[in-house]
Formats: sequence, structure tokens, C-alpha cells
Amino acid sequence: MIDLRGRVVLVTGAGGTIGAGISARFADAGAVVVRHLGRADGDLRTDAARIVDEAVARHGRLDAVVNNAGVQPVEPLPDMTIEQWRSVVDTNLTGPFAVTQAAARHLGRGGSITHIASIEGSHPAPGHAHYAASKAALIMHARAAALEYGPRGIRVNTVSPGLVARPGIEEQWPEGVARWQAAAPLGRLGTPEDIGNACVFLASDLASWITGHDLVVDGGVTARPTW
Ligand SMILES: NC(=O)c1ccc[n+]([C@@H]2O[C@H](COP(=O)([O-])OP(=O)(O)OC[C@H]3O[C@@H](n4cnc5c(N)ncnc54)[C@H](OP(=O)(O)O)[C@@H]3O)[C@@H](O)[C@H]2O)c1
Repeated sequence: MIDLRGRVVLVTGAGGTIGAGISARFADAGAVVVRHLGRADGDLRTDAARIVDEAVARHGRLDAVVNNAGVQPVEPLPDMTIEQWRSVVDTNLTGPFAVTQAAARHLGRGGSITHIASIEGSHPAPGHAHYAASKAALIMHARAAALEYGPRGIRVNTVSPGLVARPGIEEQWPEGVARWQAAAPLGRLGTPEDIGNACVFLASDLASWITGHDLVVDGGVTARPTW
């Protein structure tokens, strides 16, 4: 078991499905978890510095951040409006940029930032052009940030989940769930805790020489031949 006692971790979007699993796994590892629950706690595009500063003021330090908050609307590209495009890119890319910049001012050597990207950053799905582009850019943001913050001992990585189960998904989207289960070598959807486990690892000293990396957590689905 990884021991994160004494560490303070900020998780954005912790009121959502995956954010709850990430928070739970950090708590299991003994970390103090500051949960940014969602927009009611502050929009990341405008409130990033306040959210980070409040976490530090409350607990006296900050050791890790997980940029998990994001949106995933399905909007076919031919009819997509500029406002729809901007909304997704602003939330999924500009938000983590702003949180990273604010958090890095407080992180010391050994500090860690993890963005939740997606396998759609490399394997786009229909209706998700804005989403896939935002996640691909987020993966590249992490690599660029790893380059610039590395000399300060701060690591920046991404976790790219595949399809993660949420309550009701089998009733709402039976065709998609069945297709996923048939395609994934491990034969199941992910759980929020599967994603949390990867985040805990990347924030821990076990990952102390890992930065600028995209850790795919997808039950093997992207290992399939594509032709
Ligand atoms: N679910 C999947 O299968 C899957 C797969 C790959 C990657 N991901 C990624 O994993 C992350 C979490 O996804 P999820 O499925 O857990 O989604 P979710 O249940 O919808 O949770 C998203 C969270 O982000 C918050 N949020 C959205 N926009 C925000 C903004 N502008 N400012 C502040 N908070 C905001 C939401 O708050 P509100 O309650 O205020 O909306 C909510 O707490 C996302 O980045 C998503 O792209 C998900």
C-alpha cells in the first residue's frame, strides 16, 4: 500500500464519478484530500488561483494536484458552434492550465500534477472532435509543463482512462457498454477507483522519476489492432 500520510492533495471535479473515486483512493492512502466538488466551488477557468490558495491556506501546504474536472458533450462536428467548441476547450484545457500555474507556485520538490486526459486524446470518437482535441492538447500540455517545471522537482503527467462505469450506464447506453466489453481484452468497464489507483501511484514517491508521461488505463482496449 502506498503511504501518503502528511501529503495534501487537491482534486478538481471531485463531485463527479471519477473525481469521487480518485478522492477515495487518496484518502485510503492517508492523504489529506481537498475536494473541489464542481462549478459551485469555483469555475476553473476563472477561479483557479483562489481554489489553490484556499487549499494551501487551510492546510499549510500542497503536495499534489489532480486536474480531473471536465465536460464531455456529444456534438457532431458539422453543426458544432464556436461557443460549444470554446466551452469544451476552455474547461478541459484552459482550466488545467490555470490550476497548474497556480499550484506550481506552492509545490516544492517532489510535487506532482496529474491531468485526467482520455484515450480519446489519441483515438477520437464521433461527436467528440472538441473533446478529443482538448484531451490531445492536455497530454501535450503535461509534457511541456514537465519540461519547464522539472528543474524545480515538480512532475507533471496524464492519466488517460477508457470507458469508466457510472450508475445507470448499462441502462442508458447498452449498445456502447456491450461494444466496449467485447473490445476490451480485460472484458469490463473501468471503475473510478481504477483511475484513482493510477493517480495515487503517479503522486507517490514510487513515481519519482516519471514525468511527461501519459499513463493509459483502459483495460487494454487501445492495444487492439486497428485494421
Ligand atoms: N467517464 C469516462 O468514461 C471518462 C473517460 C475518459 C476520461 N474521462 C475524464 O475524466 C474526468 C471526469 O469525468 P467524469 O466522467 O467523472 O465526469 P462527471 O461525473 O461529469 O464529473 C465532472 C466534474 O467536473 C466538474 N466540472 C465540469 N466543468 C467544470 C468547470 N468549468 N469548472 C469547475 N468544475 C467543472 C463537474 O462539476 P459540476 O457538477 O458543477 O458540473 C463535476 O464535478 C473528465 O476530465 C473526463 O473528460 C472520463
